[in-house]
Amino acid sequence: MANQSELDVNALPSERSEEKSLRPLELSEYVGQKKVKETLSLCIDAAKARNDALDHVLLAGPPGLGKTTLAHIISKEMGGQLHTVAGPNVERKGDLAAILTNLQPGDVLFIDEIHRLQKPVEEVLYSAMEDFKLDLIIGQGPGARTLRLDLPRFTLVGATTRTGLLSSPLRDRFGVPLRLDLYPVEELEQIIQRSARLLGIQADVNGSREIAKRSRGTPRIANRLLRRVRDFSQVRRNAAAISHEVSSAALTLFEIDPRGLDQLDRRFLTTIIDKFDGGPVGIETLGSALGEERDTLEDVVEPFLLQEGFIQRTPRGRLATRQAYDHFGRTYIERPQTLAPVAQLDLI
Ligand SMILES: Nc1ncnc2c1ncn2[C@@H]1O[C@H](COP(=O)(O)OP(=O)(O)O)[C@@H](O)[C@H]1O
Ligand SMILES: [Mg+2]
Repeated sequence: MANQSELDVNALPSERSEEKSLRPLELSEYVGQKKVKETLSLCIDAAKARNDALDHVLLAGPPGLGKTTLAHIISKEMGGQLHTVAGPNVERKGDLAAILTNLQPGDVLFIDEIHRLQKPVEEVLYSAMEDFKLDLIIGQGPGARTLRLDLPRFTLVGATTRTGLLSSPLRDRFGVPLRLDLYPVEELEQIIQRSARLLGIQADVNGSREIAKRSRGTPRIANRLLRRVRDFSQVRRNAAAISHEVSSAALTLFEIDPRGLDQLDRRFLTTIIDKFDGGPVGIETLGSALGEERDTLEDVVEPFLLQEGFIQRTPRGRLATRQAYDHFGRTYIERPQTLAPVAQLDLI
C-alpha cells in the first residue's frame, strides 16, 4: 500500500531513535492511564517490600499507547534488567528456553505481540510463569527423558493489541492484567508539551491543543504530528512558535481533518457509506474492499472510530452512524429497527 507507512500507527524506522528519547523513564513522568499507574505502583511497592519479583503483567491496547514504555519503566522500577523479544520472532521452543535460562532473579522478560507466539513456544511459558520451571526433553524415542530446570524468579511482561487474541491458559497466568485506553485530549496536550520541551520546540497552548485534538487518542501519533507541524512552521511560516493557526494549517495539509480522522479512517467510513449502504458489513469484506489487513482495521482504525461514535459494531458487521454521514455531508436515512432484530437474529 503506497500510503501505508504514512498512516501506520507503529513507529516508523526514521522515528525509532527519537521515540526512545521521548520515552518517560519513570511512572511519575508517564502521563495519564491513572488506573494502570495506580495498580502498577501498588504491585511494584508490594513486590519490593516482599523482596520478590513482580507478578506477571499483561498490557493490552492499540499500538502507540505506551505498552513498550511501561515495560521499560517496570524493569527500571524493579531494578532488574529488561530482555525484549517479539512474539513472532521466537520460532522454536529452544529459542525461548535459551532466553529463559539467561535471566537473573528480578529480571523482566518483555514479549511484545505475545498473541503471535507459536503454540508450542507458548506452552513452554506455562510452567515457566507458574512454577519458574523449564521442562526440557533430552534425547528421542523411548530413551527420551524430561529434565526439569529451575528458573530464577522473573517477571514476564506481555504486550498485545487485544486481550481476546490470547489463549485462556496464557491469559490466566498473568497476575496483573492491564488495559490501556485511548488518551483524552488534555492528556495528549501534556504529552505534546513534554515532548516539545525535550525537542526544543516552542508550542503555545492553542497550538498544542489543536495537535492533541487530531492525534486519534494516541501518544505516538501526537509526537509524530508535533514534529511534522514543527517542520511546517519552519519552512512555510518561518515562525518561532507553533500557534493554533500553524497547527491547523499544517494538519490540513497533511490531510488530518478537524476531528482527527486520517485518510484510512475516512476511506473506512466512506466505503461503508457508499459501497455498503451504511452497513452492516463484515470486517473481512471491508478489509478486501479497502485492501487492508483485518488486524489493522480492528486494532488501529476501529477503536478510535468506535470511541468517537462514527461506527457501531453489530453481530452482522459494522454500521456507519448518523454522525459519520453528517461528517461527510451525506444524508442519513433512518433505518428503523435495523439494529435490534439483526442482533437478535444472529444470537439465535
Ligand atoms: N503515557 C505516556 N506519557 C508520555 N509519553 C507516552 C506515553 N505513552 C506513550 N508515550 C510516547 O508514545 C510513544 C509510543 O509509545 P510505545 O510505548 O512505544 O507504545 P506501544 O508499545 O504501546 O506501541 C513513545 O515514544 C512514548 O514516548
Ligand atoms: Mg510497542
